[in-house]
Amino acid sequence: MTSSHVIVTGASSGIGEALARAFLARGDRVTLAARRTSLLEALAKDYPERAFVHAVDLGKWANAEGLLQAARAAHGPVDVLVNNAGVQIVGPTEGTDFEAGVALLELNVHTPLRLTTLLLPEMIARKSGTIVDVASMAAIAPTPGMFFYNASKAALAAASEGLRGEVRRHGVHVVTVYPGPVKSAMESAAREKYVASKAATSTPTGTPEKLAELVLAAIDKKRPRVVYPKVYGMARHFPNMTRWVVDALTPELKSLPEKT
Ligand SMILES: NC(=O)c1ccc[n+]([C@@H]2O[C@H](COP(=O)([O-])OP(=O)(O)OC[C@H]3O[C@@H](n4cnc5c(N)ncnc54)[C@H](OP(=O)(O)O)[C@@H]3O)[C@@H](O)[C@H]2O)c1
Repeated sequence: MTSSHVIVTGASSGIGEALARAFLARGDRVTLAARRTSLLEALAKDYPERAFVHAVDLGKWANAEGLLQAARAAHGPVDVLVNNAGVQIVGPTEGTDFEAGVALLELNVHTPLRLTTLLLPEMIARKSGTIVDVASMAAIAPTPGMFFYNASKAALAAASEGLRGEVRRHGVHVVTVYPGPVKSAMESAAREKYVASKAATSTPTGTPEKLAELVLAAIDKKRPRVVYPKVYGMARHFPNMTRWVVDALTPELKSLPEKT
């Protein structure tokens, strides 16, 4: 297989790091994008020829163009864009700072859409390329206590699913990824926000490494989407039952300390 140039946003930890490692392990040239440069450099050090570190705050969509310019200068045309960087806010909706919610939307929605629209013309001209969007099961089964996050992942997933049918005639493929709980800093921080319950602790939870393996296979085999852990795939087919289960089993948010 020939080496591809892959951009992974949010490559400094969790799912993005596992994805970047998997692409590097199979010989691809990878542009690693995130804010924590030291983590990206630690990841890149074993692959000095093929890993390119670009420190960027993707919380500002205007920075998307600079990332693409730097990536092209380092490794040439981009074959695969992985829109993975994201943040989550978990807590009572009425107590969430609205500007923090808007900032979340800019990172989780505006920036991936900006990167995609900037890259599509050249992918269409070459009649090849893949866009991978890391959405969430929250797009299919929105979780109580994640108001802005649910909105962001539903928006990204909808844009991603609709784009596939539009660009496939140009030779461009789109993979929409729906992770359920997958071990990471984001996942453990979210769990901390809910009252401990049997249902929460027995929720099927995956690993970033296995998810990365499935995403690479979906790119190679031109599969439309990845749902992982696999058990959550049922949710797409039984939306009403899923809504009932999520409402019934999502634990209460822990109460915040009283303001003094
Ligand atoms: N883990 C799960 O259970 C789960 C489930 C469903 C969906 N997801 C999605 O999977 C993706 C990765 O999450 P994760 O679980 O791997 O969490 P994570 O370990 O917290 O990783 C988040 C990544 O996003 C990057 N990021 C955050 N803010 C950024 C900014 N302003 N500019 C550039 N990069 C930024 C972080 O890098 P820096 O901090 O270095 O910038 C980090 O590399 C997210 O889109 C998340 O919504 C995760």
